[in-house]
Amino acid sequence: MQSALREKLLQLFTQAEGEFVSGQKLSEVLGCSRTAIWKHIEDLRQEGYELEAIRRKGYRIIMKPEKITSNEIQLGLTTNYLGRTIHYEETVTSTQKIAHKLAYEGTPEGTIVVAEEQLAGKGRLDRAWHSPKYTGIWMSIILRPTIPPQQAPQLTLLAAVSVAQAIQEVTSIEPEIKWPNDILVRGKKTVGILTELQAEADRINSVIIGIGINVNQSNEDFPDDLKHKATSLSLEAKKIINRAELIQAILSKLEKRYEEYLRTGFLGIKLMWEAYAISIGKEITASTLKGKISGYAKGITDEGILMLEDKEGLIHYIHSADIEIKSAEEQS
Ligand code: BTN
Repeated sequence: MQSALREKLLQLFTQAEGEFVSGQKLSEVLGCSRTAIWKHIEDLRQEGYELEAIRRKGYRIIMKPEKITSNEIQLGLTTNYLGRTIHYEETVTSTQKIAHKLAYEGTPEGTIVVAEEQLAGKGRLDRAWHSPKYTGIWMSIILRPTIPPQQAPQLTLLAAVSVAQAIQEVTSIEPEIKWPNDILVRGKKTVGILTELQAEADRINSVIIGIGINVNQSNEDFPDDLKHKATSLSLEAKKIINRAELIQAILSKLEKRYEEYLRTGFLGIKLMWEAYAISIGKEITASTLKGKISGYAKGITDEGILMLEDKEGLIHYIHSADIEIKSAEEQS
């Protein structure tokens, strides 16, 4: 079914709020025959929609699928270009992998790749990212900013701020950000963001922002090694969260923050990021590829780089690391 037609059909059902919509009305509004309508209804059923059909009354929607299809995302999406091209898949190895290919092939800026499940989800520092089916948001977003490659870390922080704001708006949870872009709720990891580049020495071709969010997992859904350090939004909010609504909110916040950033620079994002930051002003240990450095997290530079002051007063500029924050008792 063409996506415009499908969107209109779903819109009619949404407006009817569970009441019947007659076949005649559907065929008039959509401009197609009753047989074509029946075919479209069958397509929706295939997608997981539960629809009731009663002669002389028409059709009504009983249950929407638990899936986050392109339709679910696009219906009610308020962005201009983010999420206007969607690649939705049930199962993938990694949405990053698909996004890289699409970006290379020239897909428009704002294209997103969303999957219900990743078999080889990729985390930062070459780690795996646990991405079970139907419970989380596993999404990669393609941007094509005209900024020098060394400014790319700023986009990582921009993405973290946008996701934190969207979570706050949709769930009323107040998340915190651990440098650079881990989003935590009550000290447990809820969101991971992986920013990858396709770039030449002096120019970015595309930035691929991979966002993984634990949304509706129960405690049992986490493997044993994650249970004590990860949580999901639904566990914290004590209710099921609508994943499509959260994706829409993320896309909307991200587009706004990105536009502001391109227009006015990083300062506004830096201030927003600092408002969520838990790692700044604390004693931390940064595990970098070169080893561990402990000290006081002084803040971030205008490029988004972490400044860590060691015992000798030497400032280390940390570009990439895992941060461990000393507990309140350990802070001197
Ligand atoms: C982290 O290590 O904190 C970053 C995790 C990023 C996971 C997301 S899920 C969507 C996208 N596809 C991937 O394979 N990884 C990112």
